[in-house]
Amino acid sequence: MTKVYEPFLIKQENEAATDAEILQRKIRSLLGTNLDKVEEILQDYPTSGKGLLRELADYILTCRGKRMRPILLMLCGNLGAVVEDYSMVRAAAAVELIHTASLIHDDVIDASLKRRGKLSLNNICGNRSAVLVGDFFFARAFELIACCGDFELNMLLTQAIGAMCEGEIEQARLAFNPMISEEDYFANIYRKTAVLLEASCGAGGRLAALDEQNIQKLESFGRNLGLAFQITDDILDIVGEPSITGKPVGNDLKEGNITLPLIYILKDPYWGPCLREIINKRDFSPASLEFLKDPSCSRVPLESARLKALHFIEKALEHLSGFKDCPAKTVMKELANSIPNRNS
Ligand code: IPE
Ligand code: IPE
Ligand code: MG
Ligand code: MG
Repeated sequence: MTKVYEPFLIKQENEAATDAEILQRKIRSLLGTNLDKVEEILQDYPTSGKGLLRELADYILTCRGKRMRPILLMLCGNLGAVVEDYSMVRAAAAVELIHTASLIHDDVIDASLKRRGKLSLNNICGNRSAVLVGDFFFARAFELIACCGDFELNMLLTQAIGAMCEGEIEQARLAFNPMISEEDYFANIYRKTAVLLEASCGAGGRLAALDEQNIQKLESFGRNLGLAFQITDDILDIVGEPSITGKPVGNDLKEGNITLPLIYILKDPYWGPCLREIINKRDFSPASLEFLKDPSCSRVPLESARLKALHFIEKALEHLSGFKDCPAKTVMKELANSIPNRNS
């Protein structure tokens, strides 16, 4: 039996629901049946994936993830005349597999020990097997995309994967470089993160047979959403609660990933030199990093980063304005507005 996707487990009526839970219910009521189909596809390996590979793949797929990319793809798909439901759910499962593969590889690159509230795959089976499970998910995603029989869709998603690799490589090239500029940062997060949200939204629009102009608007919506999403993730790496995010805090600096809040701290005449010295010495002991907890150091940089995220959300919403009002559009707007406030 398909495991019910955890974020959609509905609370009892007398329990107060948070804004995030209310949004999840709305998503569920719009896309419920198709989300269940996506879960079925994710857990179905008809031709391969036996033994240890299957065990490891199941382990990561059944962990709590937000399923943001398939949800976005299918919401965008609801803005048009859905031609063929099955391509939509296959493409939605494919973008979740691409995303999951990229997370598995990212945890190897970042030497991160936790993912989705559990031990990361690299932590339980080592880098070598983890890389192969990631590759397996990419292969499975290509299989699903091929089944959609749409050449443009194929190009859209495979080019996104290429850009994601470029983003991660560029991030590695700039690691531990305190001279990294905001432009470098935005170029990186566009490729490593926003590109897949852009492509997911574009894919939904394509499969709903929207015209090229509207597809491009949806891509711009996804791109701006993705930039805000990664900025918020980078804020959470500093102030997030690991029991809620499901991953460690402080990993970015330890791995030399100089994110937007850190770039802002580096610009501060007082705190900038402290952080530069820590980066240059690679001294990331808890005692050395204590100053980051001082609100006079991090409050303004974190707030400035949040303002940037809000700016990208505003831009994302502008690209939706031309679409006629409908339940999917309403949920897309709410989803966009929830991103800078997310805690997981
Ligand atoms: C994590 O993505 C990686 C980033 C792009 C920041 P998500 O926060 O969407 O991860 P899951 O799928 O919900 O675990
Ligand atoms: C996003 O960057 C990674 C991908 C897009 C694959 P991060 O390295 O910040 O993501 P987390 O924090 O590990 O989820
Ligand atoms: Mg990471
Ligand atoms: Mg992160």
